[in-house]
Amino acid sequence: MAHRVLVLNGPNLNMLGTREPQTYGTQTLADIETLCIAEGKALGLDVTCRQSNHEGDLVTWIQEAMGQYEALILNPGAYSHTSVAIHDAIRATGLKVIEVHLSNIHAREPFRHHSYVSAVAAGVICGLGATGYKLALTAIADKR
Ligand code: DQA
Repeated sequence: MAHRVLVLNGPNLNMLGTREPQTYGTQTLADIETLCIAEGKALGLDVTCRQSNHEGDLVTWIQEAMGQYEALILNPGAYSHTSVAIHDAIRATGLKVIEVHLSNIHAREPFRHHSYVSAVAAGVICGLGATGYKLALTAIADKR
């Protein structure tokens, strides 16, 4: 396997740029994906980016990533706080997952304080905006 990394973004992250910019910043998802691909290249990682608003798509893509990707960077959006299915998919594949949130979920509403993904993630980054994705790529490259 080449050093392939999958960057998965969940629901409503396709609306970045216009969605609550005071919370999520002004960069679009396309900006973040371009940044991930460029940063990955600089680190020797081949980055693929996907986004879906549907929980089942994310579950299927996590399953399909098994054996195909060295690691997964995942911003599950609101599914972080609800999805046992995404938790189970990560557990079933044994994939190395770094969970990223643009905002600091711990400084927001109580319902955002718990993530079902964190218990099966190798690491969690939140509150650093798009830089969080860059840091996740650095962490993957460092541990390679
Ligand atoms: C988010 C935080 C979640 O609570 C929220 O539902 C999102 C985005 C973040 O990146 O900060 O959609 O994952």
